[in-house]
Order: sequence, then C-alpha cells, then structure tokens
Amino acid sequence: MASSYSFLFLHMLVMFSLASIAFSDLSDDFYDDICPQALPTIRRVVEDTVRQERRMGASLLRLHFHDCFVNVSCDASILLDQTATIDSEKTARPNNNSARGFEVIDIIKSEVDRVCGRPVVSCADILAVAARDSVVALHGPTWEVELGRRDSTTASRTTANNDIPTPLMDLPALIDNFKKQGLDEEDLVALSGAHTLGFAQCSTFRNRIYNEINNIDSTFASQRQANCPRSGGDSNLASLDPTSALFDSKYFSNLVSKKGLLHSDQALFSGGETDELVKTYSTNLRTFSKDFAKSMIKMGNIKLLTGNQGQIRVDCRKVN
Ligand code: HEM
Ligand SMILES: *[C@@H]1O[C@H](CO)[C@@H](O)[C@H](O)[C@H]1NC(C)=O
Ligand SMILES: *[C@@H]1O[C@H](CO)[C@@H](O)[C@H](O)[C@H]1NC(C)=O
Repeated sequence: MASSYSFLFLHMLVMFSLASIAFSDLSDDFYDDICPQALPTIRRVVEDTVRQERRMGASLLRLHFHDCFVNVSCDASILLDQTATIDSEKTARPNNNSARGFEVIDIIKSEVDRVCGRPVVSCADILAVAARDSVVALHGPTWEVELGRRDSTTASRTTANNDIPTPLMDLPALIDNFKKQGLDEEDLVALSGAHTLGFAQCSTFRNRIYNEINNIDSTFASQRQANCPRSGGDSNLASLDPTSALFDSKYFSNLVSKKGLLHSDQALFSGGETDELVKTYSTNLRTFSKDFAKSMIKMGNIKLLTGNQGQIRVDCRKVN
C-alpha cells in the first residue's frame, strides 16, 4: 500500500515537473518576481534615447530582427564582439557599417542590472523589449513580449551572411528566407512594414533607382538619385518611407505607387501573391498594426534558448 502511494506520488511529481517544463519556457511575467523594475527601466532608457534621436528606435527594432534570424533565434548572438573564439556577426554583410544601437543596449543592460541589483535579465530579452518599446515610442502598436530568453555562447558571421535577407531578393527568395525561420507570407509582408521606420544607405538601393525603370515611379527615382550618385556617396541616407519616424501605413501606400526604396520592398507589390495584402495594409493602419504585433511575437519566439540553456550575460558584448 505504502509503496503504491509513493509510486503514485512520484508519478504525479514527474507529471507536474514535465508540465512545468512545458509551460515555463516563456512568460510575460517572467521578471515580475525577480526584478519588477526591469521592464520599466528598459522603457525609460528607450524613451529617452528615441526622444534624442528618433532614428535609434528604428535601429533597435532592426537589431532584434537581425538577432532573431541567425541560427538559434533571438539569443543576443548579434551583440557579441569578435574574439579568438567568437565569430562576430557585427561584420557580416547585412550588419557591417549598418547595424546600430549597440551602445544603447549597453546602457540599458547596465541600468537594468543596477536596478535589479544583479544580472538577471538576458540581453536577448532586452533586445526584444527594446524593439517593442521603440515601436511604441514612434506611435506604433504595443504587444506583450514573452520573456525568458537566454543568451548564446556562440555567434556566426557565416550564418548571419546566409540567413539575413538581402535587399536584392525577389519575392520567391524572400518567402523562402522567411519560411526557413518558420514565418509565412503574411509575416513577411507585415514585418517588412518595419520599413515604415528608419533609413537605408545609397549602396542598398542604387541599382533600383538607376536600373529598374519599369517598376519604379520616375519622379521618385530622380528624387532619390539626387542624393545617391551612380558612384560614390555609398553611405548617403534616404528614408525607407516618407515618414521615417512615424509608424504608419505609408510604407505600403508607397509600394502601391511604385515608390518602394529597396528592390526587396517593391518585390512585395510587383504582381505576385502578396499584392493583395500590401493593398489592404496601405489603407488600413489598424489591420497592419495588429498583424505587425502578432508577427513580432512570432518572430521573437521561434527556436529560443530557454530554461538553463545558454546563459544570462553580464556584459552583452562578451560570453561570461
Ligand atoms: C524582408 C526582408 C528585409 C530586407 C531585405 C531588409 C533590408 C534592409 C536594408 C538593406 C536596410 C538598410 C540598411 C542600411 O542601409 O544600413 C534596412 C533597414 C531597416 N530594416 Fe530591414 N529588411 C528586411 C526586413 C526587415 C524586418 C523584418 C525588420 C524588423 C521587423 C526590419 C527593420 C528595419 C529597420 C527599422 C530599418 C532602418 C534601420 C535604421 O534606420 O537604422 N527590416 N533593412
Ligand atoms: C567592415 O567594414 C570595414 C570598413 O568600415 C572594412 O574595413 C571591413 O573589411 C568590413 N568587414 C568585412 C568582414 O567585410
Ligand atoms: C547554432 O546554435 C547551436 C546552439 O546554441 C550551437 O551549438 C551551434 O554552434 C550554432 N551554430 C552556428 C553556426 O552558430
């Protein structure tokens, strides 16, 4: 009798712990007990930063995206500096002289660790929350960020080169690239709407404004050519939509009028299967905002390090 009770007890214990593993991966109240000031602190630094330089909101959003698309998803691998054993992603083609906001993440991390009294918040979670708070600071939608990501102990420049989409991609290549991350065509269109914020360098859109004459508004092309010569001026900036510091639907209405800046932007509206959704978003900010939030959660939650995998870095730039 006693042994069958203890067997039952053991059995239940195993069941409960399995259940708790299954459900404790991520949660929106992950830091509520460990450090209730963590999230308000991230928001405060993001708000202060974006007030000083609105573009930084765009840059922080992009940092989270580039973190999530490499290998095991959002694991702060993008923040690791080059060492003898770390193959830094910072110099991968899509990031080199382009990814920005690393100093802001350092400030957030030190502020958060100070208010928490110890390093309990992962750099990967900081990136996810800072991306959300940036969108909110630029008048976009909000969403609950599921928390509990752990930081990687590795990085891969090669994987960053292979996995982050390039601005020269056509629609099938973009669809395929997102599919490898578990994201579908709707996610592709909604998340590309992040280009309602921020800027791109001349080198990323030069070919489009000089050579894609059949698929670009001619007035728009000559306006862009004025600050992006055929040679030189590689890092000259143009805003990705007309309102680079405001989360709105102009990115999509621009695509409908053939004024997408990047080849990969216009690819979403060039006679393919995503045309309809682009049209919908172009006149419906509410639908775009709702879908954007949903896809950001999806992008932020795929293939994560959780539980006791990886680590919580003390310095986001270095493995502990
Ligand atoms: C669909 C495939 C995508 C491609 C090919 C792409 C490509 C690019 C390129 C080439 C730039 C300009 C970088 C530079 O000139 O330095 C850029 C900027 C940006 N991208 Fe994307 N991107 C894509 C999707 C996304 C997604 C999914 C997000 C976020 C959810 C995002 C957020 C941003 C932001 C906010 C900027 C402006 C950054 C700043 O001003 O600092 N992009 N992207
Ligand atoms: C990154 O950009 C710098 C110029 O700022 C250049 O010297 C370096 O070769 C680039 N790195 C890679 C890996 O392309
Ligand atoms: C991908 O992530 C796994 C788990 O962290 C790691 O073992 C592996 O080395 C990574 N691969 C690359 C190419 O970074």
